[in-house]
Amino acid sequence: MNRLDDLGYPIIVAGDTRAAFRSEMSARFDRFVVLADRNVADLALRLTRLPARVDLLTVDLGERRKRLAIVEVILGALLGAGADRRTAIVGVGGGVAADVFGFAASIYMRGVPYAHVATSLVAMVDAAIGGKTGVNLEAGKNLAGSFADPVAVFCQVDALRTLPYRHLREGLAETVKHAVIEGGELFEALETLSPHPFPKWPWESVVVDSMRVKAMIVGDDRLESGSREVLNLGHTFGHAIERASDYRVSHGAGVSVGLRVAGVLAMLTGRFSKSEHLQVMTLLALLGLPARLRYPPGRVLEAMTYDKKSRHGRVRFVLPRAIGDVETGVHVSSSMVRRALQRCVTPVGDREFV
Ligand SMILES: NC(=O)c1ccc[n+]([C@@H]2O[C@H](COP(=O)([O-])OP(=O)(O)OC[C@H]3O[C@@H](n4cnc5c(N)ncnc54)[C@H](O)[C@@H]3O)[C@@H](O)[C@H]2O)c1
Ligand SMILES: [Zn+2]
Repeated sequence: MNRLDDLGYPIIVAGDTRAAFRSEMSARFDRFVVLADRNVADLALRLTRLPARVDLLTVDLGERRKRLAIVEVILGALLGAGADRRTAIVGVGGGVAADVFGFAASIYMRGVPYAHVATSLVAMVDAAIGGKTGVNLEAGKNLAGSFADPVAVFCQVDALRTLPYRHLREGLAETVKHAVIEGGELFEALETLSPHPFPKWPWESVVVDSMRVKAMIVGDDRLESGSREVLNLGHTFGHAIERASDYRVSHGAGVSVGLRVAGVLAMLTGRFSKSEHLQVMTLLALLGLPARLRYPPGRVLEAMTYDKKSRHGRVRFVLPRAIGDVETGVHVSSSMVRRALQRCVTPVGDREFV
């Protein structure tokens, strides 16, 4: 078991977090409402056999349902279960669950204690850490939400065994993002692990090493007023691709392609070397992650209009200068952005710069 307390709340990473969950949560709360993504309802039931009053509510989630409408349904269900301000809300599920349940808990009765049991790779290394919650609006991803720290996070690593293979693989895009930001051992570890089949991976340490990168950055900038923006590497494009695909492309797959577009844009603007870009592309390929843009650049550009990182209507890009050195707040002309997107429509390696 690994435990990180740097953010002021415990983040527990273990194959099975049930014992830690009981000792952390039962000591502090005697009333729980558990909100579970329906796909992990069995796990939620096993996790939350507690010597306390527990209500379990299961919810159909998915990226397309990550909207305000579902938050209202959840708030009504919390009221129906009699949750009050001393009730701990426990969310169980992946990144969508972390965002949606965390957001509901942050506004229910103006905010009640929330803990998340992460069951997907994206949730463990990213979404459940750092206190950002939210939902999508028609205009784009995560455009409504809150900053609300959980009281605890439990990364139930054994749950990755039931996570569909595609989601496990695509979730690795967030780990590659952390590796490009950090630039050290994590990048090498992923290169070394890449030929091995997933069941043989030491997932607990992969989760800990990746999550630590996020925790360290978030610890310095809770409200994303500056340095935390590096975590959006690949996301300006990734979110736009998700939206352009009407959310058929998963978050991880969008980020993977987004990492390529950001790398190409960084090369075109003279920031990033071709050899390091190819090193990142090789890692994505070794991990079986997508790098080819399958939507027209114009559609992706249009989907970028409402990016949260925009200021005064101008998108601010997060671009690599090197593996281990990422720049934020970069302004680039839209013709250059279009050029970068255009290059990524081709498979990696087809042209000089991709
Ligand atoms: N708030 C943040 O800081 C932050 C960071 C990164 C990502 N996100 C958000 O996270 C979301 C993506 O997360 P995700 O990839 O986990 O998507 P997800 O929550 O939709 O999970 C993917 C699929 O796997 C299922 N699932 C989850 N755990 C499972 C398990 N153990 N066994 C079987 N099935 C399981 C889910 O029901 C879903 O069908 C996006 O909406 C993204 O915006 C938020
Ligand atoms: Zn992400």
